[in-house]
Amino acid sequence: MPRKVIIITDPGQDQAVAILMALAAPESFNILGIVTSAGNIDLNKTQRNARALVELAGRTDVPVFAGCPRPIGRPLVTAEHVHGPTGLDGADLPEPTVALRAQHGVDFIVETLRAQPAGEVSIFSESPLTNLAMALVKAPDIAERIGQIVMMAGAYFEVGNITPSAEFNIYVDPQAADIVLKAGIPTVMLPLDVTHKLLSTPERLRCFAGLGNRGGKVVANMLGFSESFDLRKYGWMGAPLHGPTVPAFMIEPGMFKGRQVNVSVEICGELTLGMTVVDYWEVTDRPKNVLYVTDGDADAYFKLIAKLIGRLP
Ligand code: BDR
Repeated sequence: MPRKVIIITDPGQDQAVAILMALAAPESFNILGIVTSAGNIDLNKTQRNARALVELAGRTDVPVFAGCPRPIGRPLVTAEHVHGPTGLDGADLPEPTVALRAQHGVDFIVETLRAQPAGEVSIFSESPLTNLAMALVKAPDIAERIGQIVMMAGAYFEVGNITPSAEFNIYVDPQAADIVLKAGIPTVMLPLDVTHKLLSTPERLRCFAGLGNRGGKVVANMLGFSESFDLRKYGWMGAPLHGPTVPAFMIEPGMFKGRQVNVSVEICGELTLGMTVVDYWEVTDRPKNVLYVTDGDADAYFKLIAKLIGRLP
């Protein structure tokens, strides 16, 4: 049976690959809706990009909603320096024609979780957690209805990528992350500690270009754009590919290794705002709220991505 999911996202090239994988895998995902967030770029562009992606995949049956235009307690920080001014630079997708749904994304999350049997819907999270946190504040009863949250977010051993101590998705809205991680929901976190081991080398990008479909070309072109920033920054043989860890974990969890730990978010530090503090060695009695993933099989990961992207038009 495919898993029912709500995707929360701010596409972004790496989110785009993750969303395309999910759209191409109806045997694994029953996507109830895509809720867009402000993050990598502003909300107007993320909702536009999500609509362009469902059209690219031929899946306009999947509804797209817009959530909140800014984080809960601070001004929006974006990442155009990585993703380009459109957020999907390199993809060159036409202006989408499928309409944005009128309902607010936060209300969609609340209504959907209340309408579905408890425990059946999981959250597939690719962005700052603003909309999920707002839904939990508005309707605390939904916490026990969420089966699992699988999120690309956080960092500990690899420290920060937007500040020296914080990973981007958490840094943009630390209050939201704090609310979500304290909500008592089974949570899997795919942090930089694993994504920095999953590099899109030139050979892997060539493989997407050679799939022979439009989707493969779009993926190769947009990752070619977004990885140039990381290649300069890290000097590695490829850039980390963050977003697809979420569908990969949900489809093949055995590809990854992690540990059940406490993860807490720094919400007021001057130098450490947005840091995910991981009690990896169990030196506190804080509740173990997260399966924290630190390792993954890079070859299997890129093989799965290529298999699913190869199914697109
Ligand atoms: C996260 O930051 C964003 O810029 C990427 O798209 C990814 O979601 C990685 O820290």
